[in-house]
Amino acid sequence: MRIGVFDSGLGGLSTLLACLRYLPEAEYRFFGDVAHAPYGDKDPALVRQWTAEAYQRFLTAGVDAVVLACNSATSAAAAPLREQSPVPILGLEPAIKKALDTEEGPVLLLATTLTVKGDKLRILLQRIDSARRVRPVACPGLMEIVEGQASDWRIAAQNYWRERLYPHFEELQPSGLVLGCTHYCWLEREFRQWAGPDCRVYDGNDGVARHLWRRLFGTEAPLPGALPRSARIRLEFSADADRKKKLARDWLASRGVQLQERVRDTRIRPLSRG
Ligand code: DGL
Repeated sequence: MRIGVFDSGLGGLSTLLACLRYLPEAEYRFFGDVAHAPYGDKDPALVRQWTAEAYQRFLTAGVDAVVLACNSATSAAAAPLREQSPVPILGLEPAIKKALDTEEGPVLLLATTLTVKGDKLRILLQRIDSARRVRPVACPGLMEIVEGQASDWRIAAQNYWRERLYPHFEELQPSGLVLGCTHYCWLEREFRQWAGPDCRVYDGNDGVARHLWRRLFGTEAPLPGALPRSARIRLEFSADADRKKKLARDWLASRGVQLQERVRDTRIRPLSRG
């Protein structure tokens, strides 16, 4: 089974890790559209076009499913792509519902400008009764801090939190913090620390991985397993490829996952391609 995982850069690797807990044997094609990143500040029509190009690339590679490991690409492109797709397209959306169902207090949502301003979020919030408890905050520049991986990126992220996000946090006193961009998931440990013990941190990665399982096999996903020590992942980037591949390998290795050199097909097949 072959699964295409797409993001504007390295952030979507956090989604790939979640998928590996359910489907450790699958072959993954990860594509990061670094040449056009960040998506979060771009015109949604352009993001739709780039996402459609990535999707075509995956179809040509014979994937059984596509995971848009990017809230911004999902917001701009998931619906039109799904209209005629022969394979399931899974998209990430901010885990607001999960946070609201679990928490009684306010929820702070951090996402890109595109996601915060997009119709998808507006419609999602309209459908949820307790949506008044959600405060969406756009975080321009935060993706770039993670993606750039400068030697001091964690310090830069902490400064971003202190100067740009903490004022919202202090005023709202949320009991839930939703990471609505896959890049922010690489700062999950830090966000937990900054938010403190009275505020829980949520993201959509586990949800999309479970949904992927349901679409492929038609059954509820089992409990997630441990991360495999090695995985079949082919990494591709639209710019700066050598450096990004090395960063990606290092990131995966920091979670104990090594890349297998040879990527072969596996015997597990999905139920259907529809
Ligand atoms: N990682 C992406 C997301 O989940 C996009 C970040 C960006 O390119 O601005 O929204």
